[in-house]
Amino acid sequence: MFKRTLVTTALPYANGPVHIGHLAGVYVPADIYVRYLRLKGREVLFVGGSDEHGVPVTIRARKEGITTQQVVDRYHELIKSSFERFGISFDVYSRTTSAIHHQFASDYFRKLYENGKFIEQTTEQFYDPETGHFLTDRNIRGECPHCHAAGAYGDQCEKCGSTLSPEELINPYNAETGNALVKKPTSHWYLPLDQYQEWLEKWILEGHKEWRPNVYGQCKSWLDGGLCPRAVTRDLDWGIPVPVEGAEGKVLYVWFDAPIGYISNTKELCDAQPERWGKWETWWKDETTRLIHFIGKDNIVFHCIVFPAMLKADGSYILPDNVPSNEFLNLEGDKISTSRNWAVWLNEYLDDFPGKQDVLRYVLTANAPETKDNDFTWADFQARNNNELVAIYGNFVNRALVLTNKYFEGKIPESSDFTEYDRQTIDEFKNVKTQLESLLEEFRFRDALKEAMNLARIGNKYLADTEPWKLAKTDMARTATILNLSLQIAANLSIAFEPFLPFSSAKLRNMLGLKDVDWNALGSLDLLPAGAQLGEISLLFEKIDDAPIQNQLDRLARIKKENEEAAKQAELANWKPQAIKTPVSIEDFDKLDIRVATVLDCQPVKKSERLLQFKLSDGTGERTILSGIAQSYPDPSVLIGKQVLFIANFPPRKMMGIESQGMILSAVDADGKLVVTTTSRTVHDGVSVG
Ligand code: 2FM
Ligand code: ZN
Repeated sequence: MFKRTLVTTALPYANGPVHIGHLAGVYVPADIYVRYLRLKGREVLFVGGSDEHGVPVTIRARKEGITTQQVVDRYHELIKSSFERFGISFDVYSRTTSAIHHQFASDYFRKLYENGKFIEQTTEQFYDPETGHFLTDRNIRGECPHCHAAGAYGDQCEKCGSTLSPEELINPYNAETGNALVKKPTSHWYLPLDQYQEWLEKWILEGHKEWRPNVYGQCKSWLDGGLCPRAVTRDLDWGIPVPVEGAEGKVLYVWFDAPIGYISNTKELCDAQPERWGKWETWWKDETTRLIHFIGKDNIVFHCIVFPAMLKADGSYILPDNVPSNEFLNLEGDKISTSRNWAVWLNEYLDDFPGKQDVLRYVLTANAPETKDNDFTWADFQARNNNELVAIYGNFVNRALVLTNKYFEGKIPESSDFTEYDRQTIDEFKNVKTQLESLLEEFRFRDALKEAMNLARIGNKYLADTEPWKLAKTDMARTATILNLSLQIAANLSIAFEPFLPFSSAKLRNMLGLKDVDWNALGSLDLLPAGAQLGEISLLFEKIDDAPIQNQLDRLARIKKENEEAAKQAELANWKPQAIKTPVSIEDFDKLDIRVATVLDCQPVKKSERLLQFKLSDGTGERTILSGIAQSYPDPSVLIGKQVLFIANFPPRKMMGIESQGMILSAVDADGKLVVTTTSRTVHDGVSVG
């Protein structure tokens, strides 16, 4: 029933380069799928582009001290060229600041607006009176209502992990300026998702049970929670102006305009090359087009609920048939983060490992986070290259080619009778095409790659078992058969790996003297005619030694240190005094006997990480006090001779077998450590403070 496939990939924010998390989650699987469809001879269009609106790009501009346009220009070009170098084979890669997109998204909004598809609502939002800006949740900070950490975000407290709304923050302020905020009414347009609830339930929960469990499950929990209207406009000065009178200073919400980018980018391509691609409407409005969105898990709700509701509201578009979404990839055990620079950036990888695109494609697919979050480690990267690509696939191909050069002057030798073992090996290839196809059609790229690698394993084992280098001394006919079969297997590998590892497949074909890839011929052991000349031979994969891996680990260690330092600085910069406690009476205060004492001695308490033992001269004699500040004083002797404040009338308390006779007053210093409060001028020991 479907005649063509339209594949889209989430548009990455142009606020930084793309990293391995993006690649593993979205672009590598989408590229494998598209390459496979093309090999099958299906009509397919692969759409990508940069997401250039939204808060992330404006934050980056302020951080770098350049204009937002400069940010998106820089990163759009970087992302686009990195994808090209990496072999992500988009048919179009455009951007949401293009004139075509602005017009298209604007028209899209206006049509829904004119057809009464939005509701308008006025709500109170946080506003910075000094800058004259309304703020997004992420740009608001304040004290966490739960753990009272300073500097919690308007959507989350990073200290205790609570999900927050800006309303809950104590003393909210503008994260960038530090200005206190006020509430101000503002009106916006909302897509009433509640009106689409029933339709979405039917379409997804009944109609798309085949979607991946993580995608289906997330949709179900959103739907079970009940949908509410969602604002599709924002008070910002970066974005597509809301095309309605009286909407000055308002732009389309980035999540409204970005998915429309899939359509406008298709239009841009079709308008430029109509003879090749036809009309854009055929790709978006014809029920015989199968639409597939490749996305990461944080984008599920937008692609499965919000965007379909937008398409439905217009009424003239097809809907996605599947939304294969991956979970997240971590890096060396830690969440990948653009702002913390905790990532392997594609452009840097391409510079650091020239010609090794397929190694990363291989590792990211073999370890793809298809069903759960996974971890990328450089040790695994090295091991998979050296132990799998080099030791199995590369080793097999190389031996087959080198031996053919050695014994048959680089010409494909003639095969004669097969042995039982040959037949068993040939049998393994019978179902390869069907197996690979069924896995790829189900978006099970990891298993499909395993299948292809299994073929290489079979080939490698075949050569190791038959040992043609020994037979060549006695039986040239048998040697010829073995090498013929091995080369036919190698030719199959170049086809089977083509969607996954396009660079090495092309290289292998060149070495085998094979011109085109014929997917339909996969499984045939008649791909190379006897007598044909091999091409020039070189290693298909090369070993990666420890030095470049260590470089990467050193870089990450540096970043980790920088991040820890920056987090400390940020905490200090955002430090705000705690709210003053409820008043106490002077009589209550008077009950505390606070006095001055001189430190006569100060030692760590044995077997305790926390406690210091003070000997004090309190004016009346000596007293011992234990204080839990050992972490702040690696050398406690620095306190000897200092005067400190202490509470003299606490009942004595035993800790670690030592009686503590009071409490020394201390405070948190700029490094977050507890330090004793010492007097600046000498006063008499025993003087009362009050
Ligand atoms: O999460 C993101 O990186 C978004 N820029 C994805 C947008 S996908 C689509 F809607 F364009
Ligand atoms: Zn908190």
